[in-house]
Amino acid sequence: MQQDINDGALDIEQPGVLQRYLQLSGRIGPGEDPVIQVLAGGISNRTVLVQRVNGESWVVKQALAKLRVATDWFSSPERIHREALGIRWLSQLAPAGTITPFVFEDHTQHLLAMQAVPQPHANWKTLLLAGHLQAQHVVQFGELLGSIHRHSYERQTELANVFADTSFFESLRIEPYYLYTAAQVPEAHTFIQTLVQETRGNRLTLVHGDYSPKNILVHADKLILLDHEVIHYGDPAFDIGFSLTHLLSKSHHLVEQRQDFARAANLYFQSYKKSLGEVPWLVALEERAVRHTLACMLARVAGRSMLEYFSAQERVRQRQVILSFIDAHPATIPALIAQFIERIGQYDDNHQTT
Ligand SMILES: Nc1ncnc2c1ncn2[C@@H]1O[C@H](COP(=O)(O)OP(=O)(O)O)[C@@H](O)[C@H]1O
Ligand SMILES: [Mg+2]
Repeated sequence: MQQDINDGALDIEQPGVLQRYLQLSGRIGPGEDPVIQVLAGGISNRTVLVQRVNGESWVVKQALAKLRVATDWFSSPERIHREALGIRWLSQLAPAGTITPFVFEDHTQHLLAMQAVPQPHANWKTLLLAGHLQAQHVVQFGELLGSIHRHSYERQTELANVFADTSFFESLRIEPYYLYTAAQVPEAHTFIQTLVQETRGNRLTLVHGDYSPKNILVHADKLILLDHEVIHYGDPAFDIGFSLTHLLSKSHHLVEQRQDFARAANLYFQSYKKSLGEVPWLVALEERAVRHTLACMLARVAGRSMLEYFSAQERVRQRQVILSFIDAHPATIPALIAQFIERIGQYDDNHQTT
């Protein structure tokens, strides 16, 4: 056991091992017997809930070197410390109550602990896919991101240094989403390459990098943001495109609620802009956000990380509709949303499958 602790090979998904680690490292009392529960679904991390005797609950999170996906995909476990840095800073920059408080981190075992979100809570992606779309959640989703971008822009001098390293964003976002897609889809190659160059050249705000409904828990109708391992100082338009992709892809997939999700996408962007407030780069940001949305929408049907809920037919439809924007795209998000919905609706009429 002592050796486990020293050599960085501790497996927190083994309750007995985690308990002894917490005791030996003095994080909990020497005889304390917490309730330990492995949380499901982690692909790149192990996450374990620890309910302490004093009523406190922590989530311990440990980064895996090899991601649990079909193809070999590796990323340094050091990224958990980027997440820890993210938690500490975001707690100051994001609206009160939207970030889980930090508890501790361990640089030898590459793990961190944060406060657990209280029960009952639900994952926002699960709620959305079940059709539970609520305007107040959408508004908060916009406020949360707008607030992070606004406040990190105001502290640019300091934060551009603290979060200067973009290596995890490069290996976990730029390569698998953008460069891989550019290689797979020749019609979009130049479009994506140009966007990648611009993205690398923009250092405007903190960028969460994984701003997705999957990383939002809803507790008492309040949104809480998780999973900050690719946070860096960069191009805020990426977060807008990455997140809008989820609302628009659901608008495509959930036919009955297509207009509701389109309205939600508009409401989200309005709420974001209100929270961001005045910045000299807003017009350019919106135009780049249109292109990030197109690139992410394509990446989710042709990149290394495909949306799992799409049928083969939906994948083809989304790919073709997005490609129709490559040579000429609107300059604003509302225009993109309207045109995307229209083209998705018309696609089957124009491409008869008999
Ligand atoms: N602080 C927390 N409180 C409650 N549940 C959490 C917390 N952190 C993570 N989880 C649960 O673990 C899941 C995976 O956590 P996440 O940080 O998104 O890791 P991954 O990088 O593996 O996606 C979340 O979707 C959530 O269900
Ligand atoms: Mg996650």
